[in-house]
Amino acid sequence: MSAGPRITPAPPAKRGAVTLSTLGEKKALGEPIAMVTAYDYPSARVAEAAGVDVVLVGDSAAMTVLGYPSTVPVSVEEMLMLAAAARRGLETPLLVGDLPFGSYEVSDEQAIATAQRFVKEAGCDAVKLERGGTSVDRARAIVGAGIPVMGHVGLTPQTATALGGYRSQGRTADRALEVARDALALQDAGCFSLVFEAVPSALTAALMPRIEIPVIGIGAGPATDGQVLVFHDLLGIYDGHAARFVKRYANVREAMVEGVAAYADDVRERRYPGPEHGYTMAPDEVARLEELLVRCDS
Ligand code: KIV
Repeated sequence: MSAGPRITPAPPAKRGAVTLSTLGEKKALGEPIAMVTAYDYPSARVAEAAGVDVVLVGDSAAMTVLGYPSTVPVSVEEMLMLAAAARRGLETPLLVGDLPFGSYEVSDEQAIATAQRFVKEAGCDAVKLERGGTSVDRARAIVGAGIPVMGHVGLTPQTATALGGYRSQGRTADRALEVARDALALQDAGCFSLVFEAVPSALTAALMPRIEIPVIGIGAGPATDGQVLVFHDLLGIYDGHAARFVKRYANVREAMVEGVAAYADDVRERRYPGPEHGYTMAPDEVARLEELLVRCDS
């Protein structure tokens, strides 16, 4: 290779903040929307650097970062702390906060009050809630209070027990119609976007021409306007069960275990710290210190 002038690649053009209109425009233009979850400052910085459009502080954090067995136990306070950390790491993607189980179902007032906390205390741009049914009224109330809402239909993990477990939904025409009704009702309630989770691709394809707002899929086939995956699943950080729809793009957990094991080995073999990791002191200061310590001893 000749040693010609070094060409420094131009930094990527600075993107403008992603807004609800940006998502609508992307849908209209047929440009896929990339959404990922993030739960803290470093994962948000990664999402920012990767140039995704939407970041969801999902209640999947309950399992991926807090170690709960499901999404059900996570509290509003825990979600707010994670969402606020993600906010500090983001400049451009739209930030959506997931309303946790039990924080919005009781009444419109409860739903509005919780959604307001996600906006005021954590700096979220929008909130997400699960299911059709009574959640449709809650979505309408939150939208009426001026906060954008993303709906979530199909497999809704907060109520997985009632759905018969973590399994795909809408696989018979009757059940598919229920999912369709939930989606259309949430659209009518004013949601700016919907998540379809774990539904047959044929159901998504049949529904898409009837949905005017951007639909983000996770295990819903290729017909949606965008896709979302859980950060810890796609990077191979989470060591729990991975759903069929998860595609692994890296094995970060293996790299992390290797790194920490190598560090522990170095400590045990006294290879770390090396001279380059320490701070120096002038020899005359060391000599004076020795004298002072001797004086202290006597
Ligand atoms: O909590 C979450 O991560 C989610 C996504 C899977 C859509 O709801």
